Amino acid sequence: MNGKSRKGAAQLRSARWFAPDDLRSFGHRSRLMQLGFSEEDFMGKPVIGILNTWSELNSCHSHFPERVEAVKRGVAQAGGFAVELPTLSVDESFTKPTSMLYRNMLAMEVEEMIRSHPLDGVVLMGGCDKTTPGLVMGGITAGVPMIYLPAGPMLRGNYAGKALGSGSDAWKYWDERRAGNVSDEQWRGVQGGIARSAGVCMTMGTASTMTAIADALGLTLPGASSIPAVDSAHTRMSADCGRRIVDMVWEDLTPDQIVTEAAVRNAAIVAMATGCSTNAVVHLIAMARRAGVELSLDDLDALGRTTPLLANVRPSGKDYLMEDFYFAGGLLALIKQIAGRLDTSAITANGRTLGENIAEAVVYNDDVIRPLSNPVYHEGSLAVLRGNLCPDGAIIKPAACDPKYYVHEGPALVFDSYPEMKKAIDDETLDVTPDHVLVLRNAGPQGGPGMPEWGMLPIPKALIKQGHRDMLRISDARMSGTSYGACVLHVAPESFIGGPLALLKTGDMVRLDLPNRRLDMVVSEDELALRRAAWTPPAPHFERGWGWMYSKHVTQADKGCDFDFLERNFGRAAGEPDI
Ligand code: FES
Ligand code: MG
Repeated sequence: MNGKSRKGAAQLRSARWFAPDDLRSFGHRSRLMQLGFSEEDFMGKPVIGILNTWSELNSCHSHFPERVEAVKRGVAQAGGFAVELPTLSVDESFTKPTSMLYRNMLAMEVEEMIRSHPLDGVVLMGGCDKTTPGLVMGGITAGVPMIYLPAGPMLRGNYAGKALGSGSDAWKYWDERRAGNVSDEQWRGVQGGIARSAGVCMTMGTASTMTAIADALGLTLPGASSIPAVDSAHTRMSADCGRRIVDMVWEDLTPDQIVTEAAVRNAAIVAMATGCSTNAVVHLIAMARRAGVELSLDDLDALGRTTPLLANVRPSGKDYLMEDFYFAGGLLALIKQIAGRLDTSAITANGRTLGENIAEAVVYNDDVIRPLSNPVYHEGSLAVLRGNLCPDGAIIKPAACDPKYYVHEGPALVFDSYPEMKKAIDDETLDVTPDHVLVLRNAGPQGGPGMPEWGMLPIPKALIKQGHRDMLRISDARMSGTSYGACVLHVAPESFIGGPLALLKTGDMVRLDLPNRRLDMVVSEDELALRRAAWTPPAPHFERGWGWMYSKHVTQADKGCDFDFLERNFGRAAGEPDI
C-alpha cells in the first residue's frame, strides 16, 4: 500500500464510461454486451487494458498471445475486467530504416490509447528494443497505474556445440566470413542456430538492458526482466501481473509515485552494473524526462566512472548469456550486490520497496554475477565525451573496446552516407591504416533518419585481411546493444543540422582522450569558421507524413530524441508549475 486509502468503485476512471444512467453510457454498456459480456463481468470492476505489441513480424514477441491469456486469468481472479488492445509492434529485426524512427509513434499511441479508452490500469507487454521505452514513455504520461510485462530473453543460441549470442556472434562470424574463414554451410548453420525460441535477444543488448531498467525503476514485478521468455515461470509471472495490476488500481499506485528521481538514479546505476547497451542513454533520458526527472549525460558519466560492471554477460562481459544470468540469481541478485549505492526505499509496482524486494535474493554463481570485490571491470560501462567535435556530448562504451584506443590520434576518413562508406570499406585497395579514424555522418536523429544503429562501422576489408578487428570509429548514429568496439556514438549536435562533425574533412587529425573525456579534431578555430560559413544543409529526407513530423520535432540524442511537443511541460509558460 502506498499510504492512500483504497479507491471505491464509483471513483474508478472507467465509471465515467459505464456508471451514469444516460444515453452515452447505455451505448458503452450495450457494446460490451455485444462482445458477449454481462454487466456482472464489468460493472464496478477495474478495467485493465493489456497493451500488446505482438505482430507476426515481431519474432521476439511470438509468445505474447499465450501470455495475454495468463494476464487475463490473473485479472479475473483479482476481480478485474481485462481487455486486450493491440499497439504498434516496433520490431527490431524488420523495421527499416530503423525501429528508432517509430519509438515515439508507439509512445504517442500508448498515451492516446489509454487516454481515450475506459481503462483504470494497464499491463504493458513489450521487450524488443524500442518497445520498452515506447510503452513506458506513453504509460508514464498517461498516468494510470501500470505494470510492465517484459517479454524475457530467448534461449541461448547454439551452433556446432558452441553457444551463440544474439547480435554479437552474428557480427563476429560475419567478420570471419569476410576474411574467408567461414564456409557457406557454416554460415547457414549459425543462421539457423542463433535465434532458437521466442523472446528478446539474449545478450545484454538493448532489449535486456531496457527491461532491466524497467525492473530497476520498479515498473515490473521484481526480477521479472530476467525470466527466459519460454520458461513456465514467465507464464506464472504474467498471471501475477494480472493479479497485481487490479490491486494497483484500488491502491491508486500511479507511475509518478514509482518513477521518481531516486528510482531513475537507481536504474542508471543498475544499468551500468549490467554493462548496458549504449542505447540505454537515449531511452533512459527520454523516460526520465516524461516523469519530470532531468537526467543529463554528465550525471550518467559520473555514475559510469564509479559503477563497477558486475554482470559477466556478453557483449561487455566475456562468457555468459541471459539464461545463465537468470539461473545465477537474475537482476535482483545483481541489485543486491550494489544495494549500498541505491536508494532502496524506492517504491515498486508490487507496493513494496526495492530493499524489501531484494531481501531474499541470492547469487548462485558468482562468476556470472560478480561481487563488488571481483567485478568484470571496475568502471566503464559508459563514458561521455565532449570536445570541439561534440559540444553537446558523445558516448563510448570503454568496456567493449580495446584499451589501446583509449588515447588515440589519427587521420579521419570521412563518409557522408552509409552507402558511400559501405562501398569504400569493401574495396580492398582502400588507402587505410589501423591508425585511421573512420567517420560516418548524417546518421543522427534527423540525418539517418531516426539515428540508425550504424555506429559499429565495419572494419575495412583491407584491414580485416591483415587481422585487425577493431579501430576508432565516430558517428552521430547509435549502435546495437549487442555491438562492441572502439565506437564513439551519439555525437551531438548531429552533422545533418550543422553540428561540428559536419565540418570535419578526410585527413584532419582526430584525437580521443578517454581518461579526460575529450574528443577533438585538430583544426584551428579560424579554419572551422571558414568551413562553417561554407556549409550548406543537406536536402530534407521528408516532405510529408510521419517522417516530416519526426524531423520537425525530434530532439537531439543528449535530450533523449523525444518529440519536443510530447515532453512533459511543453507549452507551459515560464514560471508555471510542473504538471
Ligand atoms: Fe527483438 Fe533483439 S531483435 S530484442
Ligand atoms: Mg538491438
